[in-house]
Amino acid sequence: MCGIFAYLNYLTPKSRLEVLDLLVTGLKRLEYRGYDSTGVAIDSPDSKNIVMVKRMGKVKVLEDAIQEHFTGGEYSEPVATHIGIAHTRWATHGEPCERNSHPQRSDEGNGFVVVHNGIITNYNDVKTFLRKRGYEFESETDTEVFAKLVHHLWKTHPTYSFRELVEQAILQLEGAFAVAVKSKHFPGECVAARRSSPLLVGIKTKTRLATDHIPILYGKDDKKQTSDQETRPHGQTRELPVLPRSDSTSEFMPLEEKEVEYFFASDASAVIEHTNRVIYLEDDDVAAVRDGTLSIHRLKKSLDDPHAREITTLKMEIQQIMKGNYDYFMQKEIFEQPDSVVNTMRGRVRFDGNAIVLGGIKDYIPEIKRCRRLMLIGCGTSYHSAVATRQLLEELTELPVMVELASDFLDRNTPIFRDDVCFFISQSGETADTLMALRYCKQRGALIMGITNTVGSSICRESHCGVHINAGPEIGVASTKAYTSQFISLVMFALVMSEDRLSLQQRRLEILQALSNLADQIRKVLKLDSKVQELAKDLYQHKSLLIMGRGYNFATCLEGALKVKELTYMHSEGIMAGELKHGPLALVDDSMPVLMIVLRDPVYVKCMNALQQVTSRKGCPIIICEEGDEETKAFSSRSLEIPRTVDCLQGILTVIPMQLLSYHIAVLRGCDVDCPRNLAKSVTVE
Ligand code: UD1
Ligand code: GLU
Ligand code: MG
Repeated sequence: MCGIFAYLNYLTPKSRLEVLDLLVTGLKRLEYRGYDSTGVAIDSPDSKNIVMVKRMGKVKVLEDAIQEHFTGGEYSEPVATHIGIAHTRWATHGEPCERNSHPQRSDEGNGFVVVHNGIITNYNDVKTFLRKRGYEFESETDTEVFAKLVHHLWKTHPTYSFRELVEQAILQLEGAFAVAVKSKHFPGECVAARRSSPLLVGIKTKTRLATDHIPILYGKDDKKQTSDQETRPHGQTRELPVLPRSDSTSEFMPLEEKEVEYFFASDASAVIEHTNRVIYLEDDDVAAVRDGTLSIHRLKKSLDDPHAREITTLKMEIQQIMKGNYDYFMQKEIFEQPDSVVNTMRGRVRFDGNAIVLGGIKDYIPEIKRCRRLMLIGCGTSYHSAVATRQLLEELTELPVMVELASDFLDRNTPIFRDDVCFFISQSGETADTLMALRYCKQRGALIMGITNTVGSSICRESHCGVHINAGPEIGVASTKAYTSQFISLVMFALVMSEDRLSLQQRRLEILQALSNLADQIRKVLKLDSKVQELAKDLYQHKSLLIMGRGYNFATCLEGALKVKELTYMHSEGIMAGELKHGPLALVDDSMPVLMIVLRDPVYVKCMNALQQVTSRKGCPIIICEEGDEETKAFSSRSLEIPRTVDCLQGILTVIPMQLLSYHIAVLRGCDVDCPRNLAKSVTVE
């Protein structure tokens, strides 16, 4: 999630104002990743302290604040060596506000300041540990524990190098993250590390580098060696299980240059205008710069580690890099789904103990269990996520579940009671219709739950409780990864509600098992991409596309048709297969494009019936079926096979080919994929 940018100039004099300018430009290049607040940290004019500026909102707001803040002449004086770090934040822990923006700091004296992307899932445990040792927290972020943990380690292990402190801290943390750390106790040094979140190092030198490789190092530093015993003042006992420093130091062959500039960034778009020489860090790499020397260390030694990280030369244009290997944000977001679904479950689902904790609603569970009914309310794609999970919610909660379009719900003045539980589903958390419906239900005394992707959004604030789907920023107007994450959030809710129902345990296990395989299965479905593109070539000149299915896959039909409409401007309709003979069958002939979802689940026979009705009208549907289901495949010359999963999660795997199909048709028709005409990402008007 979001953006890190750090800049280090070694013996290449720059004024602090120039540094700030570089930092702000770096953040601007990362803006497309989506964020809600920003911040920078640089050295104070006497270089003894660290100064930070943080702001809510856009990089422009930060830029203005910087101009106001750094007016003194001392900021225009060049400094030979300096480190600045900067960040765009997409809140996951704590609302977006200045206090929660990064850099986060270790103490009031700004001893260590850190910028962080991702989620530290065990931050509560670390926080408790640090609180007992007198640390007070000023933000709600998970990030702050990182800064304070480094500080604590520094206090207890005064001889550790900066890099070792960061390494030891990382060893205590779980989750997915990238970090860059700056410290007034280690001037001129910067340490960065990653685990599951992207991070790269850009290197800029006057002359071409002598090497294309940076060797990987393990274990202790070259300097400041002391035994572990000596590192603890006054015989103090070790408080955290600090791992022994291994002796397997490989030959120290760092990259040594006289004058050099380094950039740490979440992606290449932020560095390409400065240098095209970059090192992509791998998981558990720690990169440290000291005395202008970059070295890369590994936390753990593994046999298949290479001996060095390669410096690659970027050949791309800025525009290209922003979207990675993708042409459009929507395409990128479709392909991000193996990760985003895992992020939705991160820290919540424990596959080993079969336990699920939704921190945002756990205190409300007894009240929810006593309710009269569940109402799921949303618009567009969010509404479809409710349709997709309704059946499972009914099954696992044994409560009546109503699914409503926000606008229609309001039009009807639907009766709402104090013992209703109402869910409001919205990616942005700002959807006007949904928000109005929320206020309507709140006034009538119902329990209000939000399901949103945006921490600090209106729906999040105005709801009593809720679940953040943590899919990461979604830039493409047509929603993709937010849908699958909303879907999973509702499934997790159903699982929480059925925790103590003995009769449902087998079913729960089956679903949990399937959730643990989901990311791999999504990867498999994404491999259908080129096949889907071929199908798109058959379809893109047609006027219409009918998408049929039922049961757990009806929502995919609705969502697929919505994707086709909004992206391609083609007519498309999601049809409940059970309704065929009540009307839609009249549309079917040999020229009408039809897509049918026919999976081996309880409605398989009924779906086969519908398939036969279509083929006997000379329809030749594209079929989405299960891997290896020859019998079903035989009905058509065109099929897409998806892996088998538990019935109630099929909708996640079947919607992905629909997302890809609409995407490819849109490209073939020359439509603006990321910004379809007449539509906006966040619909804040009724
Ligand atoms: C929190 C962290 C999450 C982390 C998890 C692990 C935050 C914002 N979230 O998540 O990143 O993975 O701990 O310990 O710090 N809420 C609403 N309305 C909504 C959505 C949420 O009121 O629409 C409220 C919740 O009731 C809760 C808070 O916002 O009080 C955070 O929600 P959520 O992020 O889902 O909670 P956790 O899963 O505990
Ligand atoms: N989890 C951190 C926070 O909420 C970092 C979020 C990000 O990746 O921007 O502050
Ligand atoms: Mg709330």
